[in-house]
Amino acid sequence: MATALNIYAAGFVPGAAPAAIEVHQITKEYGEGDSRVQVLKGVDLTIARGEMLAIMGPSGSGKSTLLGAISGLDTVTSGQVIINGTDITRLGENALARVRNRNIGFVFQTFNLISTLTAQENVELPVLLDRKSSFNPSKRAQELLDLVGLSHRRKHRPGQMSGGEQQRVAIARALANDPEVIFGDEPTGNLDSTNGEAVMQLLTDLKEETGKTLVLVTHDPRIAAQCDRAVYMHDGRFLDDADVQQSMRSSR
Ligand SMILES: Nc1ncnc2c1ncn2[C@@H]1O[C@H](COP(=O)(O)OP(=O)(O)OP(=O)(O)O)[C@@H](O)[C@H]1O
Ligand SMILES: [Mg+2]
Repeated sequence: MATALNIYAAGFVPGAAPAAIEVHQITKEYGEGDSRVQVLKGVDLTIARGEMLAIMGPSGSGKSTLLGAISGLDTVTSGQVIINGTDITRLGENALARVRNRNIGFVFQTFNLISTLTAQENVELPVLLDRKSSFNPSKRAQELLDLVGLSHRRKHRPGQMSGGEQQRVAIARALANDPEVIFGDEPTGNLDSTNGEAVMQLLTDLKEETGKTLVLVTHDPRIAAQCDRAVYMHDGRFLDDADVQQSMRSSR
């Protein structure tokens, strides 16, 4: 654990920039009565703007549940999730859907593209869903497919593309409305090492060039090592920033 914690990038100061996301004491429970399970047991976390954060921890520790909760894909049982100053746990379904579509991009392990749509159409979709978008859907999708190196696959459907290509389309889709934060749940988990590295390169370039906040769940210490900071989940709890730094100091 001590070695794994020692992966802060030199010069990165957590909390120096205004927070992109603040999580206060969130809990998440599934089921009722005897079958009730508490999966998140009071998590606090602050993610700085422009930070690239890795969330690690054993299978079943609650990483995906946490990502769902802090991205507004899923609800919490209690606690607050503040994105860009808005407490999303207080929003109604429509307002939450707008925040999700405009402020958040999501990249999944299994790509989750719409199989009947082309690459171009998949990337256009979030722009079309944002009625107040200032982007031209077709132009925006072309620019982003160009950015991820897939202009030549615009008319392909997911089934006609490799896993690495599909994940790059998914990244282009996640960027469609120029969100502040991109969440990835094991985004390289279904890729071979070459494609996984290409996807990570794309994500790190994005962070460097656009200053986006990236939050990645990963089992891979090499991916965590490319992030500014890693936090660890165990049985629905986190070591918070202060604990992680404390652990680092004592491990030196
Ligand atoms: N819909 C649900 N109903 C009941 N329990 C659930 C539900 N979703 C998740 N869980 C439980 O919550 C716990 C955490 O699940 P989660 O998917 O967040 O883990 P994880 O850390 O992402 O694991 P992995 O690394 O295997 O993806 C698990 O014990 C799981 O069985
Ligand atoms: Mg998971």
